[in-house]
Amino acid sequence: MKLTRRQVLVGAAAGAVGATGIYELVDQLTGGSPQRTNAAKLLPEQHLLDGIRIVDSEGIEVLVPPLHHEILTARVTPGRGDVRAARDELEQLLAKLDADYAPSPNGLGVTVAWGLPYFRRLTPDALRRHLPHDRRADRPVLFDAQRFPSDPFDTRLESNDVAILLRSDARANIDDATKRLRASKLFELTSIRRGFAGGGFEGGRSLPKQMAVAAQIPGADLIPDTSELFLGFTSTQRAGMGPGTIANFETLGYVDFRGSGYFRHGTHMHLSHIHEDLEAWYLNFDFDERVATAFKPNLRVKQDAQTVRQGPHDVSTEADVHREFRRSGQIGHSASIQTTSRLQHDVVTHDGTVFERGTAIPVRADFNTLDNPFAWSEKPDEVGVLPAAGVHFVVFNPTGDDFRRNRLAMDGHLPQRKIELEPRSRAQGFNEVLSTTHRQNFIVPPRRNRSFPLAEL
Ligand code: HEM
Repeated sequence: MKLTRRQVLVGAAAGAVGATGIYELVDQLTGGSPQRTNAAKLLPEQHLLDGIRIVDSEGIEVLVPPLHHEILTARVTPGRGDVRAARDELEQLLAKLDADYAPSPNGLGVTVAWGLPYFRRLTPDALRRHLPHDRRADRPVLFDAQRFPSDPFDTRLESNDVAILLRSDARANIDDATKRLRASKLFELTSIRRGFAGGGFEGGRSLPKQMAVAAQIPGADLIPDTSELFLGFTSTQRAGMGPGTIANFETLGYVDFRGSGYFRHGTHMHLSHIHEDLEAWYLNFDFDERVATAFKPNLRVKQDAQTVRQGPHDVSTEADVHREFRRSGQIGHSASIQTTSRLQHDVVTHDGTVFERGTAIPVRADFNTLDNPFAWSEKPDEVGVLPAAGVHFVVFNPTGDDFRRNRLAMDGHLPQRKIELEPRSRAQGFNEVLSTTHRQNFIVPPRRNRSFPLAEL
């Protein structure tokens, strides 16, 4: 497909805040929405989407994510005296979106997540009383984001009041929601982030491949044709994603609510942007090394496999990761993270649900992007003119520290003992080809308290 100059550009270069530039292509390339069920329930959790389809990929169950994603980050405009009114206004706006669109990929998923700067400025006393406490880490569930060992020294730690995640199979639904949110005057946008996921499960060329080729990203022609992600592997297999409400604050018992039920059915969200060097990935790593890097060293899979089984019985323990490292000098992305991302023993929750040992805990909602690093930013010097391959990494964990443990494990800092490796070494998962540009932690309140949380107290 031949693109116009305007379509190749992203972000600020594509024009004003509302311009979607290259992302207009997603609908043209996919021919619209994949088949979905129409039944969708509005759940108490904001972070869970109903109506997610499951398909078979190389004999493994895979979740089909919504095609379009957008994140708005913002400062809120109301001051301390106006937050109650603002709470009512935003709730009405969100309730109207719920009424107009089914809460599924067919319609629109809206997740409103709040950062510490909002609470510190506008509701500091209520925050002290209601913020859940992580028992294991002995610290609040929400804290300021940190840089991790493999992050570049200049990764920006952000301080947005709010991040609004919009997900849908239809670009128009997201555009409509963005328009309504911006018209409300409750927010001063700080950035817009856009991207796409999936699209390749019906056969034929996948969306990330087509988008990267259209944007003339170096290395795009080397992406396998049907790959769900730029890096060539499926990342949404069912067994690798936290099931149901597992990432809710209350589910695994990690959290002490200290007598307040305010954030029950809520969760923690981490948001980062990561650049990916596709050319280095495909030219410097052959298929076997890519498998070793993404999953674990010495794993035998069919040549050119994209979906690699990661069921509860395939999970690596910390001892396995140390043993493989002694043998090969490498650690894999999934294997090292599994030492913290999977349940170490069976868990029976307060409502009798049984999660077996090896079950995944984090609910990932990341998506590929051509933003460089954002589609738009209030700091224009932050946005590059040309598209760049990357990921807007969005993940829900039962606490901020639970995310921190996962991310440290990715760098070889395992729960019991650290693996001695250079932070950005090629021996260490994807780290050599990834660079994180921005990070922030947020709390996702339950749906009932999603609008200006704690403002009414
Ligand atoms: C551009 C960056 C990344 C790419 C391309 C990527 C890709 C992948 C892939 C292919 C898998 C295996 C999928 C599966 O088991 O179904 C995976 C698993 C996972 N990744 Fe990443 N990942 C990236 C960054 C991250 C980051 C920054 C984290 C943060 C901790 C992370 C956390 C996880 C977790 C928790 C799993 C599941 C591990 C398990 O329990 O099996 N990933 N990722």
